[in-house]
Amino acid sequence: MLDNKTISELYQAFAASPNGFLIVDSGSPSFAVLPYKAYKALRQSQANSSKKINKILVTGGAGYIGSHTVRLLREQNYEVVVLDNLSTGRGEAVGDAKFIEGDFSDRDLLDRVFLEERFDAVMHFAASIKVDESVANPAKYYESNVVGGINLVNAMVKAGVVRLVFSSSAAVYGEPQISPIGEESVCHPTNPYGETKLCFENILKWYSGAYGLSSVSLRYFNAAGALPEAGLGYNRSLDHTHLIPRVLDAALGKTSEIEVFGNDYDTSDGTCIRDYVHVLDLAAAHILALTKLETDSGTHIYNVGTGRGYSVLEIIDEVMEVTGRMIPMKIGARRAGDPGRLVANSQKIQRELGWKPEYDLKSIIQSSWDWQKQ
Ligand SMILES: NC(=O)c1ccc[n+]([C@@H]2O[C@H](COP(=O)([O-])OP(=O)(O)OC[C@H]3O[C@@H](n4cnc5c(N)ncnc54)[C@H](O)[C@@H]3O)[C@@H](O)[C@H]2O)c1
Repeated sequence: MLDNKTISELYQAFAASPNGFLIVDSGSPSFAVLPYKAYKALRQSQANSSKKINKILVTGGAGYIGSHTVRLLREQNYEVVVLDNLSTGRGEAVGDAKFIEGDFSDRDLLDRVFLEERFDAVMHFAASIKVDESVANPAKYYESNVVGGINLVNAMVKAGVVRLVFSSSAAVYGEPQISPIGEESVCHPTNPYGETKLCFENILKWYSGAYGLSSVSLRYFNAAGALPEAGLGYNRSLDHTHLIPRVLDAALGKTSEIEVFGNDYDTSDGTCIRDYVHVLDLAAAHILALTKLETDSGTHIYNVGTGRGYSVLEIIDEVMEVTGRMIPMKIGARRAGDPGRLVANSQKIQRELGWKPEYDLKSIIQSSWDWQKQ
């Protein structure tokens, strides 16, 4: 029962907001006065939050991580619709999922798609993802990753779809003060790419309170590996910015040598240390995130990394071991904004979602090599 003081506070709050709707939780002395839109979204999210997820919109599902996840979703009988503009993705990687070619920031298209299909949730992979390009052209990154992202979540809220899994990044941390780095660490992105990922995470937090949007943001560390037997891997026709494909290009003789960006970091051999996580382990994390959203509302953030870091030289050694080829290399200057060490503390996702990485570095490199050779 509510006590008298609470009841009087309730009336005062209600009088101050005559257009609001009063929600009283009768079991405890708590209340809220909400504007109609927020009240409606809350009701919708309550109705949806315990609903089993079956049909999913996947933006960027033709891309590297998206396509592996789409495959796993289809294997587990989820109904999947991929929305991708094929700027870096491959149409054939979508498999038997329904495919819509288009931009995730196109408001008319989004309204149409959300009206025609009845989604239970959205996975948002699509983004502009090159760190160096983001420094040279931040406008493109804010436009795509923030403005485009807002169009997407607005369309979701409008359609009453209130569950989202978002591809965030370890780039939100910037130069970490501690290693391995946990989700509670301060975020100081050192480039517009990381900044726009953090910005969208924050948008999701505010949309949760105001519109009942529930989300899981997965902060991936370095995605790597492939599934060559299913025709899946990174897009080999693009210029590689990630280390493992670049080293494999050198192993294949496609490039004459690999440039190591700096060997004067405070690490065991002076080169940068990163946490490489197999793309299939990332895909598995997405399925667990969906399960989380079936039972839990609110805003959730998880690191997805193995907790084990490898230096650039260790990666080159392992590639030589797996491929049996010599890799010519030269030491170059540091790249601006490259932290020396970026390794995940992934205890939270292991504890709360039961995620565990299944693949080690050797299988990451072997599968990438098989894919690159094809
Ligand atoms: N690869 C990594 O190591 C890594 C690490 C951290 C986070 N991420 C995040 O994971 C997500 C997927 O990355 P990826 O490596 O698979 O990249 P990717 O380039 O292979 O995939 C992105 C997909 O989105 C599509 N796309 C891009 N802009 C679009 C738009 N405006 N409308 C519709 N489709 C669009 C592309 O065609 C592509 O299919 C991104 O959000 C990225 O920031 C990746």
